[in-house]
Amino acid sequence: MPDLAELLELAVAVAHEAGALIGTASLSDPESVTTKTSATDLVTATDRAVEALIVERLLAARPGDGIVGEEGASEAGTSGVRWVVDPIDGTTNFAYGYPAFCTSIAAELDEQPVVGVVHDPVRGQTFSAVRGGGAFLNGHPAVVRSAGPPLAHALVGTGFGYGAERRAAQGTVLARVLPHVRDIRRAGSAALDLCTVACGRLDAYYERGLQHWDHAAGALIATEAGAWVGTLEGGPLDRERTVVAARPDLVEPLLALLRDAGADTMP
Ligand code: IPD
Repeated sequence: MPDLAELLELAVAVAHEAGALIGTASLSDPESVTTKTSATDLVTATDRAVEALIVERLLAARPGDGIVGEEGASEAGTSGVRWVVDPIDGTTNFAYGYPAFCTSIAAELDEQPVVGVVHDPVRGQTFSAVRGGGAFLNGHPAVVRSAGPPLAHALVGTGFGYGAERRAAQGTVLARVLPHVRDIRRAGSAALDLCTVACGRLDAYYERGLQHWDHAAGALIATEAGAWVGTLEGGPLDRERTVVAARPDLVEPLLALLRDAGADTMP
């Protein structure tokens, strides 16, 4: 069993180094922005450079570990530890200079996240968690209240995929959800959205179609802060890429609202 405190220390150090590299990257070179899965799915040279840095640092410190990253990193490893990395979650924001993006690094054992770090280099905020050890924002406990205002007064975050068909369905669901909540936020970084729930700045968040690296660290952080995190169907978080995070007292009404809105049938 690896020392989880050591994994956390390494992840924080590497995320901070990644943040420094993001901070020095030039946003003015249009040649550095290309597309991936669709014309709206951007990737920048900085995404790739940051992932290369993270992989280099993690594997230099722990050569036997596995790793998977959004920009293609893939090492099977032999130690039982696998790192799940999103070098820049919120790439569209980053490419526009819109200040809502982060580096997300999780360490998994037996496919379960045990360490999560989400670092926002713009605000200088580092969210972290070790399974069973609570969640922290810049070293201070992040705690979700167990109860609060009803769903009608809840601030709810969401996000959209990059495919037109999924977006159309997500828009339809959103139109049905919006009249029943205080308001909706679409910040553009799933990892930050989950951490935003973890520190009570959002009451809940839902999104269908996430990739594992979008939520591996943030879901652990939200869970450790006391939020309920699971699927749109109400089960424990799995690899199906559907994620709901909410203050515990909002879970039942929120899942019912999302089901009524057709969220469970979205492509
Ligand atoms: C995206 C962001 C966005 C979410 C998308 C993700 P990326 O990740 O997390 O908020 O709505 O589903 O793909 O592409 O910026 O790493």
